[in-house]
Amino acid sequence: MRITMIGTGYVGLVSGACFSDFGHTVVCVDKDEAKIEALGRNVMPIFEPGLDDLVLRNVKAGQLSFTTDLAAGVKGADAVFIAVGTPSRRGDGHADLSYVFAAVREVAQAADTPIVIVTKSTVPVGTGDEVERIVTEAAPAKGIRVASNPEFLREGAAIEDFKRPDRIVCGTDDEGAREVLRGIYRPLSLNQASPILFTGRRTAEVIKYAANAFLATKITFINEMADLCEVAGADVQQVARGIGLDNRIGGKFLHAGPGYGGSCFPKDTLALLKTADDYGTPLRIVEAVVSVNDARKRAMGRKIIKALGGDARGKTVGVLGLTFKPNTDDMRDSPAIAIIQTLQDAGALVRAYDPEGAEQAKKMLSNVEFVEGPYAAAQGADAVALVTEWDAFRALDLSRLAGLMKQRILVDLRNIYPPEEAERAGFEYHGVGKGPV
Ligand code: UDX
Repeated sequence: MRITMIGTGYVGLVSGACFSDFGHTVVCVDKDEAKIEALGRNVMPIFEPGLDDLVLRNVKAGQLSFTTDLAAGVKGADAVFIAVGTPSRRGDGHADLSYVFAAVREVAQAADTPIVIVTKSTVPVGTGDEVERIVTEAAPAKGIRVASNPEFLREGAAIEDFKRPDRIVCGTDDEGAREVLRGIYRPLSLNQASPILFTGRRTAEVIKYAANAFLATKITFINEMADLCEVAGADVQQVARGIGLDNRIGGKFLHAGPGYGGSCFPKDTLALLKTADDYGTPLRIVEAVVSVNDARKRAMGRKIIKALGGDARGKTVGVLGLTFKPNTDDMRDSPAIAIIQTLQDAGALVRAYDPEGAEQAKKMLSNVEFVEGPYAAAQGADAVALVTEWDAFRALDLSRLAGLMKQRILVDLRNIYPPEEAERAGFEYHGVGKGPV
């Protein structure tokens, strides 16, 4: 199959590279000349494990190419995927669909075959109908069909997620479009490894938002349980295991922590609320999730201040991990930002280390001393706060860390270390959802 991918962000680049690895011929298009030029030199615009090798291999094999010329990229395609950004619209939180609509118009005008336009960007229910209207207006007689194919990959595990998804969702009622999508996803669905779920287009659009909102709800639920455990003398990790072993609940996404962040959950839950309001069906549970999670980030900053005895003025806090999760350099809506700002507002000095996120973090935070490595962050500090569970923080020499500090306070917002282990190393340990017994 010949596939064109419009947009080389996380979803577009990973999907395009993986499709090419499955033997399809893929052209990735982006308006950003610097990005396309860098990709031509195999310099990735994002940090994602394994992506540079995957891209290089397929470029060399002639299966994958990059261009800024959309019209040329669309020529001869069977399917054109739209994977441009749908950021929160300034002011109202609705998904900004202007990039999607602009791309669709250009694609429709450039098409020289009866392509299927497939929306991979996360878009509110009903967007496919608008896309179809644009296509009919821009290219009435080309036989172009419009489908929805949401993407569920996670940053940091993007290639694995794309190649072995739990399911593939394709929303279209058009049999020809289904045939094209079946052909594209055949390598993934062989032996029923990843089932393809064919639905109506609007249903596919809702599935994507519902999945993200449900996962955000699960995280927020266990975070609130953690708060209860802390005051009630219980252990949230055991609670998570105790409920997660029930197959109806499932053990994933039950890790209590500083609140969810990233490029998807915060933006998509907000956009879902807006859409639901427009339809006159407010989603009360999701509303609560959004506000509980927002409040949690600063609350985690206050938790660190409390561990310092309630006064952070003039004290130094070493922050380990800045990105919203490990294996990415993505700082978007990372809890670390609100945590650090809360500490600074209370007069603390912050010293921070992150294996990949420091460059992004420098653009978003001021007056933070960025250092190289966890031990440098702990040097002379009054407390160390573990904010992101990078593997590099899982096997720290805790005695050495404690030995470098002024006060030996460890606030482990990801529950990486068993309290006894930290206490043996001389720490006063504060986890999440671990109440005094
Ligand atoms: C998410 C969805 O998982 C993915 O399907 C969708 O396509 C995009 O949004 P991503 O944002 O890359 O992916 O990260 P994810 O691993 O889902 O984590 C999101 C946030 O939730 C992180 O801040 C993470 O730390 C937090 N989280 C996750 C928890 O706090 N506890 C958990 O148990 C799981």
